[in-house]
Amino acid sequence: MTDLLPGQAEAIAEVNDLRQAISKGDPRTLDLILGKAHTHFAWTDRKVDETTLRAAFDLARMGPTSMNCQPMRLVWVRSAEAKARLIPHMMEGNREKTAKAPVTAIVAHDTAFYTQFGRNFPINPGAAGFFAGNAELAQVTAFRNATLQAAYLIIALRAHGLDVGGMSGFDNPAVDVEFLGGTTFKSNFLMNVGYGDAGTVFPRLPRFAFDDVSQIV
Ligand SMILES: Cc1cc2nc3c(=O)[nH]c(=O)nc-3n(C[C@H](O)[C@H](O)[C@H](O)COP(=O)(O)O)c2cc1C
Repeated sequence: MTDLLPGQAEAIAEVNDLRQAISKGDPRTLDLILGKAHTHFAWTDRKVDETTLRAAFDLARMGPTSMNCQPMRLVWVRSAEAKARLIPHMMEGNREKTAKAPVTAIVAHDTAFYTQFGRNFPINPGAAGFFAGNAELAQVTAFRNATLQAAYLIIALRAHGLDVGGMSGFDNPAVDVEFLGGTTFKSNFLMNVGYGDAGTVFPRLPRFAFDDVSQIV
């Protein structure tokens, strides 16, 4: 057997323990995270505590990204002052729900994510060189992986009992200037986060079936 990498024995033991403990998600949990979860547009008065946001993030960050690049960057817009800076840059139809949401996350990606490879990809920090001279590859990689991370975050927030409402209807360059100036970050979409008012969810719109969108070759 070849030598194990540092930490690899622990990773193998963790996977084996997990497989012994559980082989399939609990149906109620699957409903909570996706099956019966809905996008929310209105919010109850219940506060969202920072501990819950941090716990959800700690779960979401375990989702995989290419070369462990983790390009997602977040601004959690919570104060009235910060909301007032965000809302003018939103489409009219997104303003009221955002004003009332306890928290609105700006989901962004760092186009210079590869500068963190010394920390995040220590098995090959030199891989940063692939991206440093190729802005298009860096942009595609950042967008792809940060969008994946955002999906992990939606699921993790739901798993922690929160509701989420995604929004792409806003002026990205204006939000970048307002909240991300002086960084290499670019906004992707916004997420209202809170405890949703179930009385306002929309009927489920049609979803593609496996056979509508798949081929097995
Ligand atoms: C990335 C993203 C952007 C969205 N943008 C908006 C938006 O700008 N305004 C809005 O009212 N809804 C927006 N939505 C909500 C979608 O229309 C909604 O999630 C979808 O219809 C599924 O609804 P359901 O979760 O209740 O099944 C967005 C959702 C996502 C994931």
